[in-house]
Amino acid sequence: MNKTYRRPLIAGNWKMNRLPSEAEPYIERLKNEIPRERSCDIVLCVPFTVISSMVASAADENINVGAQDVSFNDFGAYTGEIAAETLSDLKVTYCIVGHSERRAYHAETDADVNKKAKKLLSEGLTPIICVGESLEQREAGIYPEFVTYQAEAALAGLDSGAVSRCVIAYEPIWAIGTGKSIVPEQAEEVCRDIRGAVSRKYGESSAEAVRILYGGSMNPGNCADILAQPNIDGGLIGGASLKPADFGRIIMAADGGAN
Ligand code: PGA
Repeated sequence: MNKTYRRPLIAGNWKMNRLPSEAEPYIERLKNEIPRERSCDIVLCVPFTVISSMVASAADENINVGAQDVSFNDFGAYTGEIAAETLSDLKVTYCIVGHSERRAYHAETDADVNKKAKKLLSEGLTPIICVGESLEQREAGIYPEFVTYQAEAALAGLDSGAVSRCVIAYEPIWAIGTGKSIVPEQAEEVCRDIRGAVSRKYGESSAEAVRILYGGSMNPGNCADILAQPNIDGGLIGGASLKPADFGRIIMAADGGAN
């Protein structure tokens, strides 16, 4: 399968960090690090309360703004939740679903992730579906089955056109925020398995179109080798996305790698 069919995506995940007033200075610094014309897509997934100021600062720079979670319900009595329609009205174009931190701390299930992905797609947003194994699952050798199962469960009931529009982020839990980055070939192996599972269920053209990212301690030092892998189409970056200089260097690696 030919990687050049897919436009690389570099996604930042700010998690519960930064203030609305920090969006503008961040973008001012980031835009000095990267060219205006690029061959990769960029999205910054920021806290809900940072979305408006980030959209105001980032839109002119051709940088997308994403959210980190969404409700699978329509508008209604769901205190504290955010509707996909609200995100769309705010000009949010991507949204992370099923991040391992939400699965662990908010008991988000595969069924929830599936419903959230469907809701986002119905509002025209791109879901970034996170999957990934724990250290115990890796050591037990069951990670390929576990990760492909999570991906299949997240995509269940979608047609092949919708699957093509999704982004899947492979994030081994043991590599998130630990500085323990994966060996690039190991990340490639799992991303290839995920693409294989998509191909079997939804056909070759969906598998060729779906973008699969790696996430987990990606940084300016290790990104080039990871992004060079044939089945890895970009990165989901936590800690390093908080620093515009580091995030810019990762963007440059993706941009150069695509040429
Ligand atoms: P990290 O986080 O880059 O800080 O490891 C990645 C993520 O959780 O998406």
